[in-house]
Amino acid sequence: MVRLDGRSYVSVKDFSAEETLEVLRTAAALKRERKEGRARRLLADRTLAMIFQKPSLRTRVSFEAGMTQLGGHAIYLGPSDIRLGERETVEDIALTLSRMADLIMARVFGHDLVVDLARHATVPVINGLSDREHPCQILADLQTIHERRGRFEGLKAVFCGDGNNVAHSLLYGGAQLGMGVTVVTPPGYEPAPDIVAEAATMGRATGAAIAVSNDLAAACRGADVLYTDVWASMGQEAEAERRKRDFRPYQVNDAVMALARPDAVVLHCLPAHYGEEIDYATSRRPGSAIFDQAENRLHAQKALMVLLAGALRASGASATAAEAR
Ligand code: CP
Ligand code: NVA
Repeated sequence: MVRLDGRSYVSVKDFSAEETLEVLRTAAALKRERKEGRARRLLADRTLAMIFQKPSLRTRVSFEAGMTQLGGHAIYLGPSDIRLGERETVEDIALTLSRMADLIMARVFGHDLVVDLARHATVPVINGLSDREHPCQILADLQTIHERRGRFEGLKAVFCGDGNNVAHSLLYGGAQLGMGVTVVTPPGYEPAPDIVAEAATMGRATGAAIAVSNDLAAACRGADVLYTDVWASMGQEAEAERRKRDFRPYQVNDAVMALARPDAVVLHCLPAHYGEEIDYATSRRPGSAIFDQAENRLHAQKALMVLLAGALRASGASATAAEAR
């Protein structure tokens, strides 16, 4: 039996495959309910505290709009509001917010900060992006891939770009659900070896091939999904020029798409730097699902929040139950 209430979601690997699938089923049900005008106020009177050390469009708006749609409220705490780890300890922030809010979401630089928040908080903590992972993004991406392909098993996803947060979470997500993931990077920008090793172990159990490569053409051949992200992440602005030089041969464009399957799904977590990691035309081709991904942040995180808050018991059948109501 799947039990998510009271849990935190700091890494994709915090959930089992069945638990991830439960979030995805619930997300699909909530999406249908909203489109059909039968959305329910499942988090009425609940409060989400949102801590941001970095800028955001999608994460802030999807969490905040999601809470509004569920009948609850979200509070934005920007970089200068609480100065995480500077003005007071992470422990005291976690304990204080836990007395006032029902859920905490944090976008941080150092992954340890969100780990520490989750360790000390007595309410669920959600990672809204750290230097190591972006698990909520990957929930939305998995939802998008499933909408486009109807399955995960046997698919080959290629992440082309920097082997950091988004690539790490994709490695875990694909490995968990039986979707092969190859991360192709310029030399020196490969994903963390411990994450690759863990994903490879998970993938051996699900039949997902996990690989890391510097060979763009070989990696992209036969891809069902082509995913890219900015070359310089938030906080790496000083390295942007060097990264532009290092990553230039790794742009996702027509030549790369010609190697992938003709119906390959193009993904980008956004924000995009057109003409760098992806050209504009490729981002707008019919196989592109980048704005579905953005929209699915809303549905996937609403599902995550209702399940963590215990507002919709996870049972393996909650999506069906949700539809029946
Ligand atoms: N993809 C994503 O997390 O977007 P924001 O940085 O705008 O939140
Ligand atoms: N890798 C990017 C993802 C943004 C959503 C960053 O960390 O800035």
